[in-house]
Amino acid sequence: MRPIKSIVNPQSESFQTNYAANSAAVERLKLELARSTRGGGEQYVKRHLARGRLLPRERIEMLLDEGSFFLEIAPLAGIGMPNEFVGAGVVGGVGLVSGRECIIVANEATVKGGAVSEIGQLKNRRLSDVGMQNHLPSVSLVESAGADLPVQAKIFVPGGRGFREITRRSKLRIPSISVVFGNSTAGGAYLPGMSDYVIMVRNQAQVFLGGPPLVKMATGEVVDEESLGGAEMHSRVSGLSDYLAEDELDGLRIAREIVSHFSEPPFKPRPSIVEAPLYSSDELLGIASADIRVPFEVREVIARIVDGSRFDEFKSRYGATLVTGFAYIHGFPVGIIANNGVLMSESAGKGAQFIHLCNQQDIPLVFLQNITGFMVGRAYEEQGIIRNGAKLINAVSNSTVPAITIMIGGSYGAGNYAMCGRAYEPRFLFTWPNHRIAVMGPQQLSGVMDIIKREAAVKAGVAPDEEKLTASKKALESQIEQESDVYFATARLWDDGIIDPRDTRTVLAISLSAAYNRPVEGTMEWGVFRH
Ligand code: COA
Repeated sequence: MRPIKSIVNPQSESFQTNYAANSAAVERLKLELARSTRGGGEQYVKRHLARGRLLPRERIEMLLDEGSFFLEIAPLAGIGMPNEFVGAGVVGGVGLVSGRECIIVANEATVKGGAVSEIGQLKNRRLSDVGMQNHLPSVSLVESAGADLPVQAKIFVPGGRGFREITRRSKLRIPSISVVFGNSTAGGAYLPGMSDYVIMVRNQAQVFLGGPPLVKMATGEVVDEESLGGAEMHSRVSGLSDYLAEDELDGLRIAREIVSHFSEPPFKPRPSIVEAPLYSSDELLGIASADIRVPFEVREVIARIVDGSRFDEFKSRYGATLVTGFAYIHGFPVGIIANNGVLMSESAGKGAQFIHLCNQQDIPLVFLQNITGFMVGRAYEEQGIIRNGAKLINAVSNSTVPAITIMIGGSYGAGNYAMCGRAYEPRFLFTWPNHRIAVMGPQQLSGVMDIIKREAAVKAGVAPDEEKLTASKKALESQIEQESDVYFATARLWDDGIIDPRDTRTVLAISLSAAYNRPVEGTMEWGVFRH
């Protein structure tokens, strides 16, 4: 396989401009990520530590193998949203425990006693999906006041799914462990209740459907917390706890021991020699356009993320706005599908064909998404752009090999769907800080609405109110601008997190490795293709 020959000029004005803007965006990302580790704030962290307890990130660190990676999922969930803390009161991600890749979920007890907020619930659901889709065992580090009571209307009904999913994973032989470190009430109690293995920490874990005040209200019974749901009681009397841990570290040690009994995933490529790319990942900051409207050469990105920069391009001269081809990332074979301009009929058809080929050979897919959408206009409609775009969406929807999507720029319109956006269930989806996402650009969207309103006025026989129209166009443009922002998106779990572009290769390798916990099996069965 031949290496891509880069023609990037780091001295050029565009490189320098992009580099400065993208570096600033990465600095902001680092700042936001640092802020996301502060839990519920100084007062609550101090109180937690004074109780002799470890913080959730410390628990995760002690659980993981020495030197393990931790691919954090949605660390900035909830950012900028009312009634939400950054991270949404949960820390979660993929890491190595006793040599096995596991999904780890830790309640942030310093945020509302670890209660599950609206976005916290979405994040829990996403973490559960990562476990289910990739067949990863889960370790939950539990200390949760159950539902965030003032917002119960938003979470009570959908919240049931989380408990159902634990047992459905169990049925698929994907085991779950709960280590209970503190108070776990109601919904918090069902987390250990539904898990395959339960560890409770002596003198700390308290698990009950309702605490002493509720019991007194309901039945008049007066009972203290330890007798009602302490670790001793559950280990000796109720049988809810399978292991009684002496302290937090002992609980984490027991969890590691349990994972060490789990059987290995059936097949995983274990590459021995991995070639680094020929070009520095640092140059990605100068290559990716900071201004999303300016296109950039995606082969320059591929050259900085694949082994030896080697890329076997498929149909390089046909449907040129979509680049497709085979490569390796840390030794894992991948089929790459990358935007290099607007999607046309030919490029969509080529993408669908390439997805078939990868499924035929059980090769995981990597989507590099930077897309303004499908081409619009009379000639393209006549050519059947909808019909051809549908072929690509059909292939993306029915493909069964793992897909990982990286948003390296814009994501607009049906292009988001055709390039394996969130709704198409890629195993992992990360974004670069320059990412913008919306049904269309703010100017176009407000312009379309302006035309619609003017036409409605004409139909109604009234003169358009210019002042009102200008004001509403401006307001809508600014609303869409705000809603297209990368932080707006990540707050709402539209992705698994914003990453430093220079980490893309590493993030892809960890994601691919995680995906191989489930046998990689392509399909030759598709929906009806329109011709
Ligand atoms: N929903 C929303 N907020 C909650 C909450 C919940 N379920 N549980 C606790 N909080 C809030 C508290 O109001 C408090 O907020 P404040 O500091 O702004 O006043 C903050 O979280 C910390 O709670 P606090 O009681 O001071 O913490 P603690 O560590 O001493 O005790 C618990 C933690 C979990 C033992 C205790 O908060 C509790 O019993 N909560 C209710 C649990 C429950 O009955 N849940 C049922 C859910 S269905």
